[in-house]
Amino acid sequence: MDHHFPRTTIAIVGGTGPQGGGLGYRLARAGHEVILGSRDGDRAAQAAVDLSKLPAVETTVRGDTNTLAVANAEIVILAVPYEGHADLVGSLAADLDGKLLVSCVNPLGFDRHGPYGLDVPDGSAAEEAVRIVSGATVVGAFHHLAAPLLLDPGADLSHEDVLVCGDDTEAKTRVMALAADVTGGRGVDAGRLRMARQLEPLTAVLISVNKRYRTRSGVALTGMPQPTPEKVIA
Ligand SMILES: NC(=O)c1ccc[n+]([C@@H]2O[C@H](COP(=O)([O-])OP(=O)(O)OC[C@H]3O[C@@H](n4cnc5c(N)ncnc54)[C@H](OP(=O)(O)O)[C@@H]3O)[C@@H](O)[C@H]2O)c1
Repeated sequence: MDHHFPRTTIAIVGGTGPQGGGLGYRLARAGHEVILGSRDGDRAAQAAVDLSKLPAVETTVRGDTNTLAVANAEIVILAVPYEGHADLVGSLAADLDGKLLVSCVNPLGFDRHGPYGLDVPDGSAAEEAVRIVSGATVVGAFHHLAAPLLLDPGADLSHEDVLVCGDDTEAKTRVMALAADVTGGRGVDAGRLRMARQLEPLTAVLISVNKRYRTRSGVALTGMPQPTPEKVIA
């Protein structure tokens, strides 16, 4: 696989869940060092053992408390439910300072009519993280990749577009390269971080479609230049 950036150490906060585990699996397969984080270090260690047994994992996957995972990584992926998100990010604020923080958090509600996007006071979960940890560089990505597909060693995800939003050009370029590592396809520059207000609740549409068609839908844009430029448009 073509790497635009050196392989790096990536912590996944909430790495014991399906989304964190799935992203961790794909990143480990691409050769990155992955540290799964949890509120409980033992639970993370067990999740790391389980993940290491999946096919084609190229590197060691470790497990640790969220705090130590973040402290030992250069890039941090937030893969926790929106419920409790603010408290958790606040509790990690000192360690997150200066890090590249990638949020795939989707603030969703569910009622008898199905899924819907929650009203978030800061606009989006990604912007909430910025407010809480102003010293981290926050990028939004991976909102629309389904965890069961990430965790399925045989699933080809190269047709999925990973929409990436952020206010820091260098960080966004880096996350677009990570997106290509995760899917084998492309990351797409979706614009400024405030686009997370649209990207996060879009997942409610995908879940709604999934229920109706008994599938796992994803996002793929039409009308993109071929090949897609790998740079971010300022
Ligand atoms: N599942 C998907 O297909 C999918 C797809 C795209 C995006 N996402 C987004 O990715 C995030 C994670 O999804 P998921 O399905 O993996 O979620 P999950 O299984 O409900 O939670 C992931 C992990 O977060 C930790 N956690 C749970 N509640 C917490 C709380 N109140 N405070 C701190 N940590 C807590 C738990 O780890 P410990 O108990 O070990 O600490 C849990 O294993 C969500 O925001 C979701 O919207 C999910």
